Amino acid sequence: MIILVGNLKGGTGKSTIAFNLAVWSAYQQRRTLLVDADPQHTTSDLVALRREEGHQPMIYSLVAEERRLGEELGTAGNVFETILVDIAAGDRESFRAALKDADRLVIPLLPGQADVWALHNFMELVHTARKEKPSLGVIAVINRADTNLQVRETQETEEALRDIGLPISKIQIGNRVTFRRSLTEGLGVIEWEPRSRAAHEMDALAREVLL
Ligand SMILES: Nc1ncnc2c1ncn2[C@@H]1O[C@H](COP(=O)(O)OP(=O)(O)OP(=O)(O)O)[C@@H](O)[C@H]1O
Ligand SMILES: [Mg+2]
Repeated sequence: MIILVGNLKGGTGKSTIAFNLAVWSAYQQRRTLLVDADPQHTTSDLVALRREEGHQPMIYSLVAEERRLGEELGTAGNVFETILVDIAAGDRESFRAALKDADRLVIPLLPGQADVWALHNFMELVHTARKEKPSLGVIAVINRADTNLQVRETQETEEALRDIGLPISKIQIGNRVTFRRSLTEGLGVIEWEPRSRAAHEMDALAREVLL
């Protein structure tokens, strides 16, 4: 199964979510590949750190060149049970190429109108991809949601997503320091602090998008 974690907007949590989903998948004993299609190399650096530190289970990583992304996904699809792809913000071409092969698209976005507005232009690509491949599952995930109270902003974001016809995950990912701390160790939140809220949220999200 190829899962694309993408949003043309920057800083919405694509790499954090792609990495944490990969960790979860590896714990399910699935042969897991994390494809890094971002020149910032966030996810491949994380996998390298994980390897240096000797953390198990193993996640495989591939740095994909934009032009060869489609080709590489096609080949990797025969070898890996779960393939997660982290796409660079603003990279329409990689996004379009990867969408052709993807089974699912997970769209992380931050609460607030700006992120929903930014989705409009991106939704064109998604609609085109879905015409070609109606089985493509698309789900938006609100990331860094306010953890103190049910802030109106998060609810408004959900309503706005419903208006543009984008399905939303049942679970929202809170704005939690656990996500940042665990990453600096090359660990997913389910390993760093298995009983934390962050781990609970990531587990719920993974069940929604990977099962
Ligand atoms: N749920 C969260 N709680 C707290 N911090 C988070 C959360 N998700 C992401 N972050 C932090 O927000 C920042 C951006 O996250 P991340 O790098 O995953 O986004 P991105 O969409 O991959 O960014 P880019 O577009 O630059 O590739 C990072 O510092 C990350 O640690
Ligand atoms: Mg990133």
